Amino acid sequence: MMRQPPGMWLPLRALPLLTLLALMGAAAAVPSPAAPSPGAAAPSNAAPSNAAPSPAPAASPARRPAAAAAFYGGTFARMPSAAQLSALGRALFFETALSASARLACASCHDPAHAFGPPDGRAVVQGGRSGRESGLRAVPSLMYGASVPQFSEHFVDDDGDDSIDQGPTGGRTWDGRAATTHEQARLPLFSDFEMANASAEALAARLRGAPIAGPLRAAFGAATFDDPARLVQAVELALETFQEEPAVFAPYRSKYDAWLRHEVRLSAAEERGLAIFNDPSRGNCARCHPSAMQHGAFPQFTDHGFAALGVPRNAAVPANADPRHVDLGLCGPLRTDLAGVRRYCGLFRTPTLRNVAVRNVFFHNGRFHRLDEVLRFYAARDTQPARWYPTGADGIVRVYDDLPAMYRGNLDRAPPFGGRAGDKGAFGESEVRDLLAFLATLTDENFTRALKNPPNPPN
Ligand code: HEC
Ligand code: HEC
Repeated sequence: MMRQPPGMWLPLRALPLLTLLALMGAAAAVPSPAAPSPGAAAPSNAAPSNAAPSPAPAASPARRPAAAAAFYGGTFARMPSAAQLSALGRALFFETALSASARLACASCHDPAHAFGPPDGRAVVQGGRSGRESGLRAVPSLMYGASVPQFSEHFVDDDGDDSIDQGPTGGRTWDGRAATTHEQARLPLFSDFEMANASAEALAARLRGAPIAGPLRAAFGAATFDDPARLVQAVELALETFQEEPAVFAPYRSKYDAWLRHEVRLSAAEERGLAIFNDPSRGNCARCHPSAMQHGAFPQFTDHGFAALGVPRNAAVPANADPRHVDLGLCGPLRTDLAGVRRYCGLFRTPTLRNVAVRNVFFHNGRFHRLDEVLRFYAARDTQPARWYPTGADGIVRVYDDLPAMYRGNLDRAPPFGGRAGDKGAFGESEVRDLLAFLATLTDENFTRALKNPPNPPN
């Protein structure tokens, strides 16, 4: 397991200012696909036969950087180009001055070498003012985040039968409580568990003294530093633009994407794994993690919906030492607007499975550390409950031990779940091996490179 002090991921911070500015200039010179002119339509979606190296997902123009700039429009003395913003955002992503402890950067938790997910095997990462406050949830991947739709409680697919309400969909974080990317941008900066800034003033004061102050002034105008609220917006806009950089966050450069483009073949094991993944009577994974092209757009491996899987309670989350603490996802306690809506208790947002093979921890509470164990849990949650849930002194297995009994009607029970203790599971060990082989085809190529080096400037 890689265990690195947060300080490991500071290559850009360590760069002298001139290098940083040059880097920004270099990035600005690149014709960036992230810089459509305002009002431009979203790039057209590539068909499977299209050999274009970077097909675009079905992303609405509202989530493109230009729209982000429009959202913040008129706020700043000058508005940097999308490429400049992205380079600045990249530097900020590695900037420890963003945190109250001055020890944490975004990258300390969202490790570029692990799909911008957890850097090591810890279920939750420590942060906060002291740098030792524990978070409540596993760090999600930031890959393909720009294609997560805005949160909606009643999602109606605009291309299927439009009378079907698919229920809660989208939003960022495990419970979708950051309805939009703009809201999301604020969360980590001021969360008690993460960057823990007490106020915009406190953050502005720290940034004034950091090496990043120069590039920030150069990008947005010196006056930006006079108004802490505006400075925070500048930081958010830059971070947001960086996270929508297709070359880094949505490259569509996995073996599976190449297969969809008819450029490569899958191995026999990978092909079997895909068949199990899609088979409604075995993996049935595609029910929530769609694997097929949709209207010419490459699959996200999530329908962005919410489901209650009954993931076992994780004693490694410090908050769980208190039996009264229960993370119910959509119905709270972190999310508050749907508190008390019983049918939503225990539901978490379905994450993308792209790059899942480079993650160290799985599910909202980081209960699993190995992908093969996750697969076995899916196959045998209900048929071998003693394997996942604790057994009481009375010999009775405390099934679904992280979801109070009153909410268990919300559990998903369709395949691969279902069956009774002692029945045959939805699939066996050879299927687990094939599924693992298939899931590994979802790892982006530039990520495999990032495993060796932190990301280079976009090129
Ligand atoms: C101490 C660790 C930590 C730090 C530092 C941190 N994050 Fe996070 N981040 C998390 C956790 C944990 C979640 C999930 C929170 C939840 O579900 O309630 C998260 C969620 C997110 C999400 C939502 C992803 C999704 O779609 O679910 C984004 C985007 C994000 N963080 C970006 C950032 C940025 C940008 C920074 C730096 C300003 C940052 N984070 C700093 C731990 C961290
Ligand atoms: C009913 C919808 C549903 C089905 C079916 C489903 N998943 Fe999931 N999947 C989810 C949800 C929701 C989560 C997050 C649950 C949580 O954290 O509590 C998840 C999480 C995961 C994760 C952890 C990812 C991470 O970043 O932590 C993996 C791996 C995964 N699913 C793989 C699969 C595979 C493989 C199958 C088929 C065997 C499958 N899923 C079937 C909804 C589903």
